Amino acid sequence: MSGLRSAEWYVGSGRNAYIHRAWMRRGLPASAFEGERPHIAIANTASDLVPCNMHLTEVARSVSHGVYEAGGVPLELPVPGLGETLVRPTAMLWRNLAAMQIEEMLRANPIDGVVLLGGCDKTVPALLMAAASVGLPALVVPGGPMISGSFRGRPLGCGTDVWKLSEDVRGGELSSEDFLSSESSMIRSKGHCNTMGTASTMGLLAEALGMVIPGLAGTPAPDSRLLEGAHASGRRIVEMVAEELTPQKVITEASIRNAIVALAAIGGSTNAVVHLLAIAGRLGLDVSIDDFDRIGADVPLLVNLQPSGEHLMDDLFRAGGFLAVLKEVRELLDPAALTVSGTPLVDHLESARIWDGDVISSRGEPLQERAGIAVLRGNLAPGGAIVKPAAATPRLLQHRGRAVVFDSIEDFHERIDDPRLEVDEDSVLILRGCGPKGYPGMPEVANMPLPRRLLEAGVRDMVRICDGRMSGTAYGTVVLHVTPEAADGGPLALVRTGDSIVLDVAARRLDVELSDQELAERTPSPETLAAFAAPERGWQRLYVEHVTQASTGADLDFLVGASGPEVHRESH
Ligand code: FES
Repeated sequence: MSGLRSAEWYVGSGRNAYIHRAWMRRGLPASAFEGERPHIAIANTASDLVPCNMHLTEVARSVSHGVYEAGGVPLELPVPGLGETLVRPTAMLWRNLAAMQIEEMLRANPIDGVVLLGGCDKTVPALLMAAASVGLPALVVPGGPMISGSFRGRPLGCGTDVWKLSEDVRGGELSSEDFLSSESSMIRSKGHCNTMGTASTMGLLAEALGMVIPGLAGTPAPDSRLLEGAHASGRRIVEMVAEELTPQKVITEASIRNAIVALAAIGGSTNAVVHLLAIAGRLGLDVSIDDFDRIGADVPLLVNLQPSGEHLMDDLFRAGGFLAVLKEVRELLDPAALTVSGTPLVDHLESARIWDGDVISSRGEPLQERAGIAVLRGNLAPGGAIVKPAAATPRLLQHRGRAVVFDSIEDFHERIDDPRLEVDEDSVLILRGCGPKGYPGMPEVANMPLPRRLLEAGVRDMVRICDGRMSGTAYGTVVLHVTPEAADGGPLALVRTGDSIVLDVAARRLDVELSDQELAERTPSPETLAAFAAPERGWQRLYVEHVTQASTGADLDFLVGASGPEVHRESH
């Protein structure tokens, strides 16, 4: 093997090579620095404050063994992780910061390839965005889901069941004591959320993109086969360096199309839309929000997992796994799309099989005929908005109702249970100020809890509209990612309580029943504008000044595209 990037640092008799080798020796053999053995970073998002990724240090050890066995030099590189349930004000605010740091650390250091270890929601997207911009050979080892929770004889899915149980408490159907007693039954093992939330979705879509050794994504975190796959990934990245198999060759428009098909077939998280758009943006691919509707809308739902269905991620693995799902939609997949194995994704489907038809349906008998994401436009969302019909109440997909408007999530919490609030089950709840700039960071608040008195009356879904996101574990008739967001001059800022809102998913429309002239004559109220006040310092200020809208991935405008691996200057 010749021409390794790391050799620029280590090979030679000059002072700089001496310095680089001397500080890195620490027990490594001389052969590690002769320019023959690729140096492989293991980018590890593990941290005590990222509970879903805590076990990745064990996974990193298996990767390390594989790298060493194949002749490489493994180097663990701790990178920022984001604990979805913990970080404030929202993990999405930090996705781009994490991606930027990972990108710069990969570029700055003497490495030839990288294994990306992620799990919790934002970690796999941030790793993929970074790797795409750097362009060194890279593959992902998804950390895998935790095993199923169980409470009083029935499965408990993290996220989805929290929303359900807490609504049952608010609706008076479950006591607070019973709710709290379910808490320790939910998270039973290492791993990320076990529903088809964002972490599960992005782990599987990383494989659909070709960035995971086929068959590995979705392996539960406690399953020893995850470590076996991590070991194989360590071996494979060494070969990929020799083959110069970079993300640019793996993540293409073809593989993004495959990911969009997969997203629909698994009933995946709506968050995948912003993440895939951001990854595509790093690679300069011609992918738009409309592709999700055009390619995915008619793809059938095949996976019976919460939040759209009943089961959990270890059921999917047991039932045949992701490749068995992909096999059912094989003719929709692009046969040219490569994987990190060096062969096309479709070549890995032959031996896949469905072992439990209750978890994975056949193409002939899908759970739903059309499961993809619908992209809406109209005078409320000229740049687009999305809705996931599979997670919605069918009768609400065509709806006219009176707007009840909230300027912020705090405003919402303050008033939603106020008995004086004029709201009924036909009302349309609108929450604004929750887009990338407005919050800032586009939090997962769009699946607003329903007013208590309607819950008590048995109402379980209403049309909700927001410029923010929704947790991948959530469900309901929720229109998300409204673009442009209210804080970026979008018409959502002009809607008033009492306006008539029309949602027509079949026609792909979202409108407020006002003429162009009526809208043009309106300005946002002082209260509305005050709710969008921009932060004054630090990352939040930089973020707000540069973040793009949801319809293009909510990346920072100066991070779109590639930086490449070349860095020639050094400090000594
Ligand atoms: Fe980490 Fe759900 S909180 S994946």
